[in-house]
Amino acid sequence: MNETKPNARESENMAPESDPPLFYRRHVFVCTNERPAGHPRGCCKARDSERLRNYMKARAKELGLADVRINSAGCLDRCELGPTMVIYPEGIWYSPKTTEDIDEILTTHLVAGGRVRRLMLRPGDDPPRQYGKTPKPRT
Ligand code: FES
Repeated sequence: MNETKPNARESENMAPESDPPLFYRRHVFVCTNERPAGHPRGCCKARDSERLRNYMKARAKELGLADVRINSAGCLDRCELGPTMVIYPEGIWYSPKTTEDIDEILTTHLVAGGRVRRLMLRPGDDPPRQYGKTPKPRT
């Protein structure tokens, strides 16, 4: 067996604990993707995601959440569950429908560090996929 010992740089590369600190305490990605009307998967923009994103951004500023970044995102590939957003670094997904939902995510999750369980998306929530195929419209 010819094992070589990692050098100092290789050892550092394999040590996640030496990652730099987070640039943003929380980073929120809100899908604002738009698809043509009638697309079988729908899209978040048609479900008011742009307005909700704008509201969230404005409210986060009013709340003084300078260490939280709220960005628009392209399709997050959970379209049927939209509007969708995901918050990192914890990777929690939500599907807010109203500005009241956004307020609850801001105060409970982003300010207090809790979770809004009634709005959370879980892996099993997604409809079955036909990977590599365009889904056919339901009849
Ligand atoms: S259009 Fe928003 S997740 Fe795909």
